[in-house]
Amino acid sequence: MATGVSAQAFSQKIVVAHRGASGYLPEHTLEAKAMAHAMGADYIEQDVVMTKDDQLIVLHDITLDRTTDVADQFPARVRDDGRFYAIDFTLEEIRRLNVSEGFSMVGGVKKQSFPNRFPMGNSQFRVPTFAEEIELIQGMNKSTGKDVGIYPEVKSPEFHRAAGKDISTAVVKMLKHYGYTSKQDKVFLQTFSFEELKIIHDEILPAAGVELKLLQLIDNADTNPWMFEANGMEKLANFADGIGPEKSLIIDRASTKSKLLITDLVDRAHAAGMLVHPYTFRLDPGQVPRYADSFEEMLDLFYFKADIDGAFSDFPDRVADFLKNNK
Ligand code: G3P
Ligand code: CA
Repeated sequence: MATGVSAQAFSQKIVVAHRGASGYLPEHTLEAKAMAHAMGADYIEQDVVMTKDDQLIVLHDITLDRTTDVADQFPARVRDDGRFYAIDFTLEEIRRLNVSEGFSMVGGVKKQSFPNRFPMGNSQFRVPTFAEEIELIQGMNKSTGKDVGIYPEVKSPEFHRAAGKDISTAVVKMLKHYGYTSKQDKVFLQTFSFEELKIIHDEILPAAGVELKLLQLIDNADTNPWMFEANGMEKLANFADGIGPEKSLIIDRASTKSKLLITDLVDRAHAAGMLVHPYTFRLDPGQVPRYADSFEEMLDLFYFKADIDGAFSDFPDRVADFLKNNK
């Protein structure tokens, strides 16, 4: 049974700004984080990866090519697989890159992944360091009187370890440096890797002398099938304070308006004492599942029918408004 998460955490439903207010400004830019803070997010997410010179940066992918102009600035630094890895670049080099909305290359032309979002090529954005982002959020907390939390994800820990980098220890050290040392502090540390979560829980946190809330991300039922067995959530609760499942693990994609298929995952996680924060709630065309008529109806089904405790959303303003209007 997970311990240390306050009863208040279960009584108060929250919104996590997924990569910031990424529905409105390019993901993981400081601008997107400032907007999320102003929009009423309870927590703001950081995906964290490491550079060649062991600096922690806020970037969703371990590669730079989807969201920056690295291919234009450093064409020779491509690996054989056609990708540009953040771990091959120093922080000084990464600071020179221009960040944009995510894109894919189609016929040699950049095609914006979410065409209705912030236009590509407009304005100048940079890849922030993890420290810069924490300082921004803590600074805004002081200047506004709010207490917005942070929600870092250790990205691809096995990839980093294979390159000789212990990213989790570096993240925990950084959190400790900025005053996040107990389960009462406003931070959740998340990862998709159960093996890494266990290392963080059993070794890294005790070595650092801190306790933090840990969240196990779950992208599908096949990665760790034991989690979906009868006692899976109880076992997981020995290490995690919460789960962050892909949202179709809570309301099945096959659901229709007349037949909503809610799984037992939330109930089982709650019974084990864990919070449930699914991802990712978007309102771009095609992103609201067919069983809901609107973004807000989707939120209603998840927060109040399925009883989730929080949600990752690219549109934190819409979720914050929804929660305010449905207390
Ligand atoms: O960490 C929650 C959510 O962000 C997981 O998906 O791929 O956006 O990091 P991803
Ligand atoms: Ca994430």
